[in-house]
Amino acid sequence: MSRDGFGSKLGIIAAAAGSAVGLGNIYRFPCELGNNGGGAFLLVYLLIVLCLGVPVMLSEFVIGRRTQQNPIGAFKTLKPKSAWPLFGYLGVACAFIIMAFYSTVAGWTLEYIVKAVGNEFHGKDLETIEKEFVAFHDIGWKNVFWQAVFIFLTAFVVFKGVAEGIEKYSKILMPLLVLILIVLAIRSLTLPNAMEGVTFLFHPDFSKITGSVLISALGQAFFSLSMGMGVLITYGSYIKKNDNLATTALSVTLSDTLVAVLAGIVIFPAAFSFGIRPTAGMGLVFNTLPMIFNQMTGGYVFCIIFFVLLAVAALTSTISLLEVVVAYLVEELRMSRRWATVLAALGCMAVGVFASLSLKSDSALRIAGMSFFDSLDFFSAKILLPVGAFFIVLFVGWVMGKNAFFKEITNEGTLKLSLKGVIFFIIKFVAPLAIALIFITGFL
Ligand code: TRP
Repeated sequence: MSRDGFGSKLGIIAAAAGSAVGLGNIYRFPCELGNNGGGAFLLVYLLIVLCLGVPVMLSEFVIGRRTQQNPIGAFKTLKPKSAWPLFGYLGVACAFIIMAFYSTVAGWTLEYIVKAVGNEFHGKDLETIEKEFVAFHDIGWKNVFWQAVFIFLTAFVVFKGVAEGIEKYSKILMPLLVLILIVLAIRSLTLPNAMEGVTFLFHPDFSKITGSVLISALGQAFFSLSMGMGVLITYGSYIKKNDNLATTALSVTLSDTLVAVLAGIVIFPAAFSFGIRPTAGMGLVFNTLPMIFNQMTGGYVFCIIFFVLLAVAALTSTISLLEVVVAYLVEELRMSRRWATVLAALGCMAVGVFASLSLKSDSALRIAGMSFFDSLDFFSAKILLPVGAFFIVLFVGWVMGKNAFFKEITNEGTLKLSLKGVIFFIIKFVAPLAIALIFITGFL
């Protein structure tokens, strides 16, 4: 069976960056940063992305492209008759979990597009906008409806296949998102009291760095880069044999980080200016943004474009999540792509409903003091992804080994890569140790 693949170098970067850039950058990053000490979190986050992001991403690409398989098949090929394929299954399970709560928030972006078109934020003060956000969660069916629409859209693109679907949509819309974020950042920075937000974001207070800040930054880095569960193994398997994996990983990491920091520059100065607490969590993004648009010339149009682009950014991410499940069903269980897509989408919906409904203010869907939504987020980002990433680097460093790794990243010796020794050293020793240490300090 011939495999579908990416058409061009730009296409892969766009698709992998499309997977990486999403609600994680614009919604989750500001929430985590606000709850974990501001500048201190940013500093730890950037260090982690720089030192661990690129090597872990490269490891996933190498596993995927070497084997030309989905994560489970990949581990089976590289290490038959071992327990390693279990991590492939873990990835598939993790995709379901992330998809379940991610599609909830993705659904909100659709509701907010409708609100934006109806000019519903116009002239409202913060209190009203906040109240309406909470009231929206209390209408359970509405959340579930938008979530279902979003999952359907995802399934539609995934069904159309890799080059036709994923690649085509990512290439145009991602750069547009960056552009509009820059415009918003300028508006936000010119609001009264904006400097307070800038200080909160960029001035690290070292006393705030605790174990839980470390684990939050680690989880956020992996979540944002789509690492640790095989999405990038799957995408790596679609990368052409003559493409440069290292520069691809670097470009994806840098673009993802740029978008997150830009989102921070949009959100925090404005939040401080309007008097929204940085710890406001979900409301931080969904309430601050409409307030910014209210203060802008052309805010009506910008608001619509922004939420459309946010929805698209979320879509290119959910596509990558669903694709992991579909690739598994197609290649390991020999299902047709059509049925695999239908089944995967229904499965995500089945878990996702509970995530959406758990945010109603009177919901009893709680685990260990957290809403079901928050527990799915916590369990996937702070536990499954670090564990997954730990074993992925361990696998490349100790099982696959130096020779196979060098062959794959230099395209069988045709590329010169002077840093490959350093990268391999990081993958073999530094990355597993660092991940384990952060994980242990985070949970002690
Ligand atoms: N990285 C995406 C975001 O930031 C979310 C995402 C897509 C993801 N695929 C993933 C997270 C795989 C972890 C693993 O919005």
